[in-house]
Amino acid sequence: MSEQMMTASGALDGGKFARQESRDILRFLTCGSVDDGKSTLIGRLLYDSKTIFEDQMRSLEAVSKKHGTTGDDIDLALLLDGLQAEQEQGITIDVAYRFFASDKRKFVVADTPGHEQYTRNMATGASNCDLAVILIDARKGVLTQTRRHSFINSLIGVRHVVLAINKMDLMDFSQEVFDKIVDDYKAFAQGFEFESIMAVPLSARYGDNVVVKSDKTPWYDGPSLLSYLEDIDVESADRSLPFRFPVQWVNRPNLNFRGFSGTVASGIAHVGDEVVVAKSGKTSRIKSIVTMDGDLPEAEAGEAVTITLEDEIDISRGDLLALTQHRPQVTDQISAHIIWMDNSRMMVGRPYIIKMGTQQVQATVTDLKHKIDVNDATHKDAGKTLELNEIGFCNLSFAQPLAMDTYEENRKTGSFILIDRFSNQTVAAGLVWFGLRRAENIHWQAVDIDKKARAAQKGQTPKVLWFTGLSGSGKSTIANLVEKKLHGEGHHTYLLDGDNVRHGLNRDLGFTDVDRVENIRRIGEVAKLMVDAGLIVLTAFISPYVAERRMVREMLEDGEFFEVYVDTPLEVCEARDVKGLYAKAREGKIKNFTGIDSPYEAPVQPEIYVNTAEMSAEAAADLIIAALEKE
Ligand code: ADX
Repeated sequence: MSEQMMTASGALDGGKFARQESRDILRFLTCGSVDDGKSTLIGRLLYDSKTIFEDQMRSLEAVSKKHGTTGDDIDLALLLDGLQAEQEQGITIDVAYRFFASDKRKFVVADTPGHEQYTRNMATGASNCDLAVILIDARKGVLTQTRRHSFINSLIGVRHVVLAINKMDLMDFSQEVFDKIVDDYKAFAQGFEFESIMAVPLSARYGDNVVVKSDKTPWYDGPSLLSYLEDIDVESADRSLPFRFPVQWVNRPNLNFRGFSGTVASGIAHVGDEVVVAKSGKTSRIKSIVTMDGDLPEAEAGEAVTITLEDEIDISRGDLLALTQHRPQVTDQISAHIIWMDNSRMMVGRPYIIKMGTQQVQATVTDLKHKIDVNDATHKDAGKTLELNEIGFCNLSFAQPLAMDTYEENRKTGSFILIDRFSNQTVAAGLVWFGLRRAENIHWQAVDIDKKARAAQKGQTPKVLWFTGLSGSGKSTIANLVEKKLHGEGHHTYLLDGDNVRHGLNRDLGFTDVDRVENIRRIGEVAKLMVDAGLIVLTAFISPYVAERRMVREMLEDGEFFEVYVDTPLEVCEARDVKGLYAKAREGKIKNFTGIDSPYEAPVQPEIYVNTAEMSAEAAADLIIAALEKE
């Protein structure tokens, strides 16, 4: 007998169990703390269940070799999917997976540490699970943590709950105690829409009702915990859902074959069925379903296949295929719950990458509607940020439309992750609440006079000179000189300056990190409009964050964005202190002052670099003009 512990940070990509294999596996999550006897309970299950683990591992190995994608290694993804993308991203999440088997069933137990700050771990664990075993200490009854566990499970869509009411030996195996806890639990869990709630009175320490039924609870006529787990029918509904096939890659070994490879996320499709490419709306019929073991007449949820179509239609990685009569939504704005998983907090307005199935585009949280208190599922005031382990309900907007379902309809095609653009870390897991239709009715208005025409009339190439640097570094002074020179040469220019814009368009914004993000987002949009008007735009803002400068760069066309880094050391800026602000900041009279108690992230590869400690503003302006002329 042995047990194996794996952490989710291993490589868990690709692959699936064969049909029959996947159906007799129950994946469950254990929720509770060490004090509740969680480890003892897991230990009991593993050791008392006559686990034949070696055999189990061997068969898993065999299946891995056949269907897996990790060569000779055991493919854990055969057991685990759900939020698998975040594992590809290498996020370190404390979820331990243990495997055991009884005569009737195989089990995967996801276990997360029991301390307070573990929403992210629990959510990740739960995303793979059919059922949650929630431990309750019979002496303590339903606690705040019980509510938290239940809420997270319900949010993640775990439909079955088992209350393991433990330490019954310390309460004389009293039926009264048991009944009261069950009543308390059912009263508050009403709103969570669990499909089943089962309660088992047990003693993990002495083994009562864990594997074998105890004679100490004659009043309890239910099964032992293990028997219940063996028999419960959680048959994943994936197969009965509409057909969804996210295209992983286009398989084109030669000119005669063009197939689309991936794993069926849900539903079933047959050769001859009419399918639609969700985003383009193009349709065709399935010509064949190809696998390594030969062609199949049909493909269903969990199977990795290559589909060929009767017509040559445009399909690439990231496309989602569906049957024409049950199409997913296609939208570029959604409402969603997100669970923040990163140490650096979420900021409304900051660009991230959204990864939904095999689709991946830029996304921003445009509005945080409310936060949810995990302890009692109540709504809290939102603000503009989410910290590690916080859950928010928000609106997101994507750079391009994505195909999806709501999470309620489909856990696979209704979930996503957000990735930080610089660290490449997964920063959030998200669940689609609904697609926002408002974008649908706002179309781009085609105009006849375009940027090219406007620029041609002005005889210039529109661009943005984006000055960035500390307060007092000389951005405004140099930008002003550069604008004068350009103007003198007959160019059409406009200078957007921090202090000035903050008196008008951005008068509602302060200097918190979130407000600075929004400040730069608006300036970026305005600069983009001005470039569209054919102007040469100069902007002078501290713009302290790499993420937003890059966002503006990407809003513009290639070659239109010139980052000018005015690199003046903090000491020099502070010595100048033209507006007396540094002195005030040092005295603590101004909070969040850049360079003092708010960060400045210097550009790594600016198009133009000037250092005003070493040259005059005039010389810097000449250098910039010279650099522009070289373009
Ligand atoms: S940014 O960070 O959002 O890009 P912006 O360039 O618009 O800042 O505004 C910076 C100007 O606001 C500074 O030059 C300074 O005059 C003034 N200011 C007032 N409070 C602060 C502060 N806490 N940090 C930085 N600048 C401040």
